[in-house]
Amino acid sequence: MERLVVCLLLVLGAVYGRHEKYEGHQLFKVAGTAEKIAELYEQLDILTATPSSRSESGYVEALVRLSPEERLQWLKYFDANSMPVSKIADNLAEIMRGEEAKIKSNRIAAKRSGRSISWDTYYNHEEINEYLDELAAEYPDLVTVINAGLSYEGRQIKYVRISTTRFENLQKPVIVIDAAVHAREWVTPPVALYIINQLVVAAADSVLTEGIDWVIIPLANPDGYQYSIEEDRMWRKTRSRSHASSDACPGVDGNRNFDHHWGTNAAAANPCAIIFEGPSAFSEPEVRVIRDVVLQQLSRTSLYISLHSFGNMFLYAWGNNGTLPANGLILHLAGVTMATAIDELALDKADPYIVGNAANVLYYTTGTSRDWTRAVGVPLTYTLELPGYEYGFLVPPEYVEQIVTETWAGIAAGAHYVLSSW
Ligand SMILES: *[C@@H]1O[C@H](CO)[C@@H](O)[C@H](O)[C@H]1NC(C)=O
Repeated sequence: MERLVVCLLLVLGAVYGRHEKYEGHQLFKVAGTAEKIAELYEQLDILTATPSSRSESGYVEALVRLSPEERLQWLKYFDANSMPVSKIADNLAEIMRGEEAKIKSNRIAAKRSGRSISWDTYYNHEEINEYLDELAAEYPDLVTVINAGLSYEGRQIKYVRISTTRFENLQKPVIVIDAAVHAREWVTPPVALYIINQLVVAAADSVLTEGIDWVIIPLANPDGYQYSIEEDRMWRKTRSRSHASSDACPGVDGNRNFDHHWGTNAAAANPCAIIFEGPSAFSEPEVRVIRDVVLQQLSRTSLYISLHSFGNMFLYAWGNNGTLPANGLILHLAGVTMATAIDELALDKADPYIVGNAANVLYYTTGTSRDWTRAVGVPLTYTLELPGYEYGFLVPPEYVEQIVTETWAGIAAGAHYVLSSW
């Protein structure tokens, strides 16, 4: 009996303990100049930023998480710096427990229906890799799974090539899409998987399957992603420990680790910052996978999209200084084409997409995949921030189908743009 009680407590502890570290954490919206907001990234967990054009205050606004210990100090700081602040959510742990319960019940339903994938839940690393292998087995003439290498902790990173000509027709343009470079942005792998599904299983728009070679990396950061499932729902970075202070602060921000103006932002040099750029450019094996994929097909890669969440934005170069690349107008036009296609299908409550230069819309960034891919010669490159509605990263599973469907419309519009200008 005693043993049973201990067991029960352990099980309950596993379920309820996981989010304990966020007990009493609150979310605040804080407004400020782009510089002031960018500075916060060194010391705080910023969930997303809202462009000044969309915010009521007319400033860039950041959604920040404050622990009970941080709260007093930072509310004082915001006040002293005349940064207006308002509370958005009360107890993050409670919200996380709600999310987890919903995912559990949907998973049971999904299993029962016997489908190999459904668009109302989230899958783990192993399940995603299995799905890719299943597709390759079922569509051998169209889908090739590439084992691209191991993550820092030794997980297999897989991506798919979709091609009716086995990547041998060098006249075709290539589109590269990655997801979950940031671990906690759970809604991004379903979007990548849905794009694969539309191209392969549904053959929804056969011109796009036939005319383009696709490279899709649905789970670029499996270590961080699994850590966000099993240990810490708010984990963003990789899990590497090859830098100074990595015992206290493991992991690197994969979207600051690319070799483009890397090492020029002091805030990103702090290993404990959520935007830590790493000990050197391309230090992360997960980031090198993306680099190598892009370089392999460089001359015909026409569009690169890195799927992120959240905020409904298409962001383009240059994030490092706010000027536009030579093809800035085209970048904007293609971005608007995609954004418009999404907005047409979006929920009423969703913010319309904003398309713009990353530094002008938000603040300066260095080492991003968007800027690096543009700099090496890919003409159209974007960071795509998907919707979070009022939920942020914790998008309830019942919204997944909406987000994958509308985002596919945007990607398809972008792909048609590529074909028409190729
Ligand atoms: C801004 O950065 C880009 C990318 O590195 C560079 O090509 C451009 O010359 C820079 N512009 C200015 C005004 O510094």
